[in-house]
Amino acid sequence: MDARLLTAGCVDDLVLLEEVGEAAVVANLEALFKKGRIYTGLGPVVISVNPFKPIDGLYSVGLRNKYQTRHRHELPPHVFAVADTALKASHAGGACSRQCILVSGESGAGKTEAAKRLLEYIAATSSSSGGGATASRSPIHEKLLGSNPLLEAFGNAKTVRNDNSSRFGKYMTVELSPSGGIVGGRVTNYLLEKPRVLTPASGDSRSFRERSFHVFYYLIAGASDAERKALRLAPAGGYAMLQRSGCATVRGLDDAREYGAMRSAMAAAMAAVGLAEETQSAILRLVSAVLWLGNVAFAASGSGEVGPRDAAAREALEHAAPLLGVDVATLTKSLTHRTISTGLGERITSPLAAEECAATRDALARALYARGFDHLVLLLNQCIAPGGPSSASIGILDIYGFESNSFEQLCINFANEKLQQCFISLTLRAEQEVYAREGIEWSPVQFFDNLVVCKLIEGARPPGVLAFADEETIMPKGTDESLLSKLEARLSGHGHFRVEKAAGGALRGDFTIVHYAGEVSYSCRGLLEKNRDTLFRDLGARPATAGAQFKAQMAALVDTISACEPHYIRCIKPNDDKAAGKFVTERVRYLGLVENVRVRRAGFAYRASFERFAGRYRVVSASTFPRSASRTMVFLRSPRDLLALEEAREQRLHVVAQMLQGGLRRFVARKRLAKLKTESQKLFNGQKRRRGSWVLQWSGDYVGAAQNATVAKLLSRHGDGGVLFASTVVKVNRAAKSQERILLVTARALYTLKPGSWAQTNRVPLAALSGLSMSTFADGFVVVSVNAAECDRDADLVLSSPQKAELVTVLKDAVSRLGRPEPLAISFADTLEFRSGKGGLLARGTECRTINFYEDTSLGSKARAAVLNADRARLRELRELQVRIPPALASNAALQLAATA
Ligand SMILES: Nc1ncnc2c1ncn2[C@@H]1O[C@H](COP(=O)(O)OP(=O)(O)OP(=O)(O)O)[C@@H](O)[C@H]1O
Ligand SMILES: [Mg+2]
Repeated sequence: MDARLLTAGCVDDLVLLEEVGEAAVVANLEALFKKGRIYTGLGPVVISVNPFKPIDGLYSVGLRNKYQTRHRHELPPHVFAVADTALKASHAGGACSRQCILVSGESGAGKTEAAKRLLEYIAATSSSSGGGATASRSPIHEKLLGSNPLLEAFGNAKTVRNDNSSRFGKYMTVELSPSGGIVGGRVTNYLLEKPRVLTPASGDSRSFRERSFHVFYYLIAGASDAERKALRLAPAGGYAMLQRSGCATVRGLDDAREYGAMRSAMAAAMAAVGLAEETQSAILRLVSAVLWLGNVAFAASGSGEVGPRDAAAREALEHAAPLLGVDVATLTKSLTHRTISTGLGERITSPLAAEECAATRDALARALYARGFDHLVLLLNQCIAPGGPSSASIGILDIYGFESNSFEQLCINFANEKLQQCFISLTLRAEQEVYAREGIEWSPVQFFDNLVVCKLIEGARPPGVLAFADEETIMPKGTDESLLSKLEARLSGHGHFRVEKAAGGALRGDFTIVHYAGEVSYSCRGLLEKNRDTLFRDLGARPATAGAQFKAQMAALVDTISACEPHYIRCIKPNDDKAAGKFVTERVRYLGLVENVRVRRAGFAYRASFERFAGRYRVVSASTFPRSASRTMVFLRSPRDLLALEEAREQRLHVVAQMLQGGLRRFVARKRLAKLKTESQKLFNGQKRRRGSWVLQWSGDYVGAAQNATVAKLLSRHGDGGVLFASTVVKVNRAAKSQERILLVTARALYTLKPGSWAQTNRVPLAALSGLSMSTFADGFVVVSVNAAECDRDADLVLSSPQKAELVTVLKDAVSRLGRPEPLAISFADTLEFRSGKGGLLARGTECRTINFYEDTSLGSKARAAVLNADRARLRELRELQVRIPPALASNAALQLAATA
């Protein structure tokens, strides 16, 4: 899960494919998908293939931590990697502090899931950066994450393509404080699919497989008895608009449970902004009123007057009116009459025909619901509004996918065209900028620029589809048919547009636009009505048409995105059946992926900063890498080169792993020793004239004892742990003879070992040590005093070590860690006492002997070593050891520290 895949034919980044063709791209995606790898890179873009089933560990905390702590290049592509890149870029500050992540793909491709994972990552990782590692999530994180169930209840629905299809566009920004913590957020919503409120008209083949917005079903399934009463809810099955759907329940979706989740999200959000229970129930009353409005049918009476058709219709009005806070007569009249202002300031009210009444009712229901949704977003925004200054932000765009047929879908597909524009201009621009900055030559690649399709839809001069629709909408005699004729006359010559005709040449009633993602046909039926927004027909001032409003929203969105550094996730739906693990190659084939790979590959398959490149592949070669013509980056034209490098790196890695283990050990030891060195300076400084040996590197283990198998066995037999110090020393034995030994110190004992065989000659528990004494000269002698009561050893140790300061410091530190009350006594004198072993050369009468240190100028100014008197006759005579110190190690030596003692 956390290792990169870079084998030929199965690379986790499409840019590294040997061969760039549709078949190769699709085969590679499929190979990864079959391994449970749903994420694939396309350079910095992450492609996500919907698995339609949970994948173990894919969003685990452990994996999240890896993406947080390791470099993106070391880990396979993942939505976490995208979120992390955006977060890190936002922390970089400056002009880069505005980031956006654009999630695209058709309906059911996994956009909303991806957006949730992105938000989760940002919430989880920025809470720790803001409030310390132990800080629990602050309420703002909860509120941001909690906004999802609420928005989904009101804005999502079961469709043919997706059981939880987002029927609105959403752009959520997370505002970050200078320290990287979340301070708040904001949701911008785009064009809710209003007609869905009333579900597809009966007779529509989709009606049996699609539902209205979730909240209607949630409410009916989950409301308590008290709520049912207050909201005037009819029993399930009592609503015409819900009855029209053939799938009032959805497998795997528990409406009642979802209602509970939605209510608690609502309660949490509303409470946070101090909005009472009343606001929540007002929203639910609106939902109930819309349900009742759906039951109001109209018919003309015998006198020709149009009114509620029957008792059921009247009952519906009687419920809807109080829920909306109006009286029944007012509501009835507003649905059955039209008021027009004349030019002379008069208002004329005229009755409507039965179908017109139904259209007005539908428009009212849709508008009420859509406004309720807008209001909900407004309340949520109050709830998550930034509570402090923000210096950076990350936006996540979860826009709708491509759909076919209606006016809403034209708007949605237009939104996708606009985003594709952003994608093209931002990625190509970015690409070219890199090449220019690095001084690299490249020839631009041909790609389809969809600007031409954007203009076809939104153009003003020459007018595009929306402009013609607006023109026709305000014409008193404008109809869907007249619009279609106009489109035919004015746009037929356009390469991306055609009006569909029947065999005889008559217009069929729909037109086709060739979008960047394929051809889509749109029906003209009802288009003008939707564009006009019937509800406002009564108003004097003409409101902006729906198309114009959407165009303005898209322009604002494009402005926002253009001011951000973009990151992309492209979601792919691998089959049409929502089937787990099924990959239908035909479905994936045309997604413009190949083109994208080509654009990215036009120059170089792989690019990385020189440091990063060298960092990853340094292990492969001992010599330095040649730099390319580039200034700061390494570019590889052929993916094969990268794969070869990866293979070589893989082979080297096990060797490197061993090196690393050793390196880590040394690093830990060095850190420990560096600390000890500071203590050593305190210990010796001012106490003793000696060489400043602490300017030398302390390395603890000078003889490789830690890697020796005999030593390992020995230490484990005693349960002694690791080597703290090991070095060659000279030990003075009881016969006053010098012997070479390895002195080894662990956390529990001190050993002497025979060089070569590593055989143990002594083991003294550190607990038995009572003191260390040294001369005031810069010699290497140390007397290690042993408490005989603590061990079976009857003599002290007399040693000479080239790392005396280090040895003494390590011993003192290790003894202090044993937890015994008195520290190891350290003393300095030029006459030291020690206990010699019984029967030794010096052991006549008493075991207590002395070592005398004195400066001997006869050794000459060049001598650097202290000399132990080895004259046996003299030894017997004096009954003491003598150490002659050369002038270089004595008081006047340049290398010495001044003695203040
Ligand atoms: N990463 C994933 N892991 C497991 N299942 C997933 C994943 N992504 C999506 N799905 C499944 O696919 C379903 C559809 O995904 P999602 O709702 O995110 O699609 P969408 O692209 O937002 O579609 P729409 O445009 O209709 O809103 C989810 O409800 C879930 O069951
Ligand atoms: Mg969605």
